[in-house]
Amino acid sequence: MNILAFETSCDETSVAVVRGGRVLLANEVLSQNDLHALYGGVVPEIASRSHLEAIAPLTAKALSAVSGEIGAVAVTAAPGLIGALLVGLNYAKGYAMAKNLPLIPVHHIRGHIAAAYLAEPELAPPFLAAVVSGGNTQFIEVLDYTAMRVIGGTRDDAAGEAFDKGARLLGLGYPGGAALSKLAGPGDDAKYRFPRAEIRDAPFDTSFSGVKTVLRNLIHHAKQLYGDDWAEMLDLPSVAASYQRAIVETLADKLCAAAEALRYDTVVLAGGVAANQKLCGELRARLGDRIHIPPVYLCGDNAAMIAAQAYYEFIGGARAPLSQNAYATFGVEKALCQA
Ligand code: KG4
Repeated sequence: MNILAFETSCDETSVAVVRGGRVLLANEVLSQNDLHALYGGVVPEIASRSHLEAIAPLTAKALSAVSGEIGAVAVTAAPGLIGALLVGLNYAKGYAMAKNLPLIPVHHIRGHIAAAYLAEPELAPPFLAAVVSGGNTQFIEVLDYTAMRVIGGTRDDAAGEAFDKGARLLGLGYPGGAALSKLAGPGDDAKYRFPRAEIRDAPFDTSFSGVKTVLRNLIHHAKQLYGDDWAEMLDLPSVAASYQRAIVETLADKLCAAAEALRYDTVVLAGGVAANQKLCGELRARLGDRIHIPPVYLCGDNAAMIAAQAYYEFIGGARAPLSQNAYATFGVEKALCQA
């Protein structure tokens, strides 16, 4: 069955068609990064209005690339910016109603995990997943396609947020994860000391606010001492490399410890931060072929991953009424469908 899916939870408008949860037929993605860069972060109302302008043309483009019939309509219904989610949900409802198709609401984090199904047709639960993106950092037991158990997550900033906030402090613009990683390239990652947070009685929880504060203090101190020349007095590639190493090691330590403790042979890394090559390299070095990482174009927000997960939600019986709501926050373990 071909599923048409919409993703508008944050600052990417995306429309995709996927066959049987595994075969990518079309995946149109329009990033709003340029619109939000001016403000140093996502402006919710600008995001909603931009989704509204983009969603119809992207749908036409995605459908023009597909010849088979559409059997169901899927949409990200949580979590995310509520105004942004409502644009996609309402558009999906309209399409489903007009074509008399079933509507499947999908949890965004479940979608990130399902990106791995598109990349590897043989991959199947159970496995352990780490979803690391701009808005989320969670370690999740994927017991079955629609049964999840969260075993840990961030207490404050998400990993991508830590990259973005670090990049902002370094004057690298928004979103800065990739730029920070690039700056770190030639740097010495042992030159500056950044903390690794441990949380008592919660071995798989993370905290990245401390590492960010240390960076802020380092830059603040340099500015106080050297004024406008502060950047020349620090070895910025090494600052970025040491900062990146603290985040990467924290994620790798937690994920590998969880895989060991819960005896998972298969581990999936998903979400936008999976584009970070240091993190991928570290996990490959530690886990070998036990680690599965989708290609970069499936790691950032996209509708193909939503369509992939929707297939399994559909098989599990999910059929939403046209009164289905969207939610800014919603646990990944709970059923999202209101039917
Ligand atoms: O999954 P995603 O597209 O959307 C959100 O949920 O936000 O993830 C975007 C996040 C941003 O925080 C971005 O800075 C980060 O992924 N990111 C990276 C890299 N590429 C993207 N972080 C570190 N290194 C990268 N190469």
